[in-house]
Order: sequence, then C-alpha cells, then structure tokens
Amino acid sequence: MDKIPVFITDKKIDTIEKIAAFLENFSDFKIIKTSTDVKDLEKILEKNIQTIILLGPHYTIDDIEKFVSFYKDYLHYLIEIILLAREPSVEFLRKAIKLEIHEVLELPLNTKDLNEYTNRAKNIFKKNPVNNSKSQYKEKKGDNKKAMRIMVFSTKGGTGASFLAANLAVDLTTQTRKDITLVDLNYQFGDIALMLDIYPKNNINDIIPLIDQLDSETLKSFLTIHKSGVKVLPAPIDPSQDESITTESTIKIVDILTEINDFIIFDAPSIFSENVLAILEKLDYLCMITTKDVPSIKNLKISLQVLERLKFPKEKILIIMNRSDSRVGITLNEIEDTIGRKINIAIPSNRIVPLTINKGIPVVLNYPKSSVSKNINKLTKILINTKK
Ligand SMILES: Nc1ncnc2c1ncn2[C@@H]1O[C@H](COP(=O)(O)OP(=O)(O)O)[C@@H](O)[C@H]1O
Ligand SMILES: [Mg+2]
Repeated sequence: MDKIPVFITDKKIDTIEKIAAFLENFSDFKIIKTSTDVKDLEKILEKNIQTIILLGPHYTIDDIEKFVSFYKDYLHYLIEIILLAREPSVEFLRKAIKLEIHEVLELPLNTKDLNEYTNRAKNIFKKNPVNNSKSQYKEKKGDNKKAMRIMVFSTKGGTGASFLAANLAVDLTTQTRKDITLVDLNYQFGDIALMLDIYPKNNINDIIPLIDQLDSETLKSFLTIHKSGVKVLPAPIDPSQDESITTESTIKIVDILTEINDFIIFDAPSIFSENVLAILEKLDYLCMITTKDVPSIKNLKISLQVLERLKFPKEKILIIMNRSDSRVGITLNEIEDTIGRKINIAIPSNRIVPLTINKGIPVVLNYPKSSVSKNINKLTKILINTKK
C-alpha cells in the first residue's frame, strides 16, 4: 500500500506543527493537509481519497461529536478518525467509543503506538476499498432534508398561538424524534423562550451580523435545545432589534433551517407582517387559531379573504378552535357557516394551560392524557401523516 494520507487539525497552529513534525519521521504517512479549520476536510473528501484524520487535543468532546455526526456517512470508508488526547479520562474514552472512534492516541505521541496504529489503519482501508459506493463523497449542504413548514397564526393576540406552537413543536419532537425547530417570529414580543423555560444564549438577532456567510453548521450552533429535543430559535430580547432583521435575512434563515430539519414550526405575530407574508409562500400548513368571541371570528373571516386574494391554497389552511367549550352563545356549526370552512381541531379551555405556561412545562409533557393534549396530538398526527 502507498503512503496513508493524513489530515491534521487542531484549534492551535503550534500543536498542529508539533504533530506534523513527529509524523514526518514515519514513512507510512503522507500529510496531505493541515488546518485549524476542520471544514478543510471537505476539499479532501471531494477527491474521494481515503484519509486519516488526526483531531488534536484542543477539540472538546462536543466538537468531536458534531464533527462525527456531520461526517458519519464516511467514517470507516473514506475517513478514519484518531483522537489525540493528553491523559484522556475514562469518560472521554467511553464517549469516543460511543462515537465509534476506537483510536485514541495519547500525547506526547510515541513511536510504538504509532507503528501499531499504522498496521491497523492499513487493514481498515484495505477492507473498505474506495470504490465502495458508500464511500463516494457528496458535498454536504445541510443534511439534504426538506422540512415541512407549519405556521401557527392567530388574527388576534391572546388567542393561544404561542401556546399551540410551543406544544405542537414539542409534541412532534417527542412523537417522531426527528429534527424539529421552533422559530419565534414575534420579533418584538416573543414568548417562546419563556413558555419553554429556556434561557437562550443566542436569539435570531445574534445571527444577523453573520448572515452573509451563514451556513447550516453555524446556524445549528445558534439554536437552543429544549429538554424535549426541540430546537428553538428565539425572538430578540430587545423589541427595538426587530428593525434589524430584514425579510431577506428571515428567508435565508428559513431556507437553511429547511435543509437541516424535518419540521419547522413558526409562532407568528397576529398581523400579516412582511416576514409572515414572505414565509407564507413557503408553508405546507397554516394553522389559524381562533376563539369563539366575535372579534376573533370576524378577524379570522377577514384573514381568510386576504389569503384567498393572495392565492394561498385553501387545502393548506387548518382551522383550530381554541377554548372550544366556552359557552358564549355561538355554536361551532354557526362559526363554520360564518367562515365557510370546517373547524379541523378543537381544543377545550382548561386551567392547566395557564398553569403549565407559568411553569414553563408544555402541557403535552405535563398532562399528556388531558383533553387539551389529546387534541394537540390530533394536529400532530395530521402533520406526520401528510409529511412527504
Ligand atoms: N385552551 C386554553 N385554556 C386555557 N387558557 C388558555 C388556552 N389557550 C390559551 N390560553 C391562555 O391564553 C393566554 C394567551 O395565549 P398565547 O399563546 O400567548 O396567545 P397568542 O400567542 O395568540 O397571543 C395564555 O396565557 C394562556 O394561558
Ligand atoms: Mg404569541
């Protein structure tokens, strides 16, 4: 076998230089690239060269996990990863094995370890020749997904849009275990972070300075993960920052999110803002939530007319009646007649809703058997069943 190609990467250039200098003594290896940016690996993968990746000691186990999950399709076929660590802990080794990285070499490197490793590496690549179809590198832009996009929109504040959006996103995540992101489009007064009791490090406003270079990996790092697994892109904390988020930026973020998610849920403000209008075109479903009071129903009717003028497809609209059991002298049938549409989902009123909102625990997690949760489950099922 010819020399084994090696790519050396670490956060620190002098560490890379030290490793490279040591490897120079071994005739079995050929250093084809060194870089402080792991993404430079892409240039090697494009050429379909079987390569050993030496990940230096300054990457954390979280960095390594991200790296492995991004390149997992090529692991053991096109790439072999060796972790270089100084006095690795048992915990570190256990995590490495879980990530299917069986090679951890202790620093400082020594000749014996490296010779042993060389023989193993030659065998691995021999067993998995590069013409194996699985090893063909395809440029990864995102995860090649195409998320179903759902907006929860109410025509009047206080109707329950944010409550439904948060619960729907959490319910979808627990039912499917897929990639789901919840986006708070209430750029002035977003409630989502509060409703899920998360304290995000970043919100959408922090992405804006990077928007021109934004890629899926960077965007992922700005999302906050709720304990249910749902990823959240919260609204700005300062309402005045709303102005710095243009429609173009919003669309760019939505397009990238689409590539890395199975579902995106938007919690929309109660107006047809520019951002809402721009996203409308990209939706698979628009969930219009209303209550039984006359102003809400009047606004719903007007909104449906606006959507018709915008040629928004009728079949993408789902009507959600919130607090459907409140006795206010109007029946659901009368409402259906007024708006000229069927009500798709009815969610009753229940004090567990404000209770769970105040606690920051979604009702679908806290009271999964309640009628409120069961009706949200119905909506979740519609989405799951119609996802392509
Ligand atoms: N089904 C329900 N039963 C009881 N209270 C509800 C219900 N749905 C919403 N609420 C209450 O209404 C308030 C407004 O809900 P929210 O989701 O913030 O509305 P919006 O986002 O449409 O402005 C919340 O504080 C919540 O407690
Ligand atoms: Mg809201």
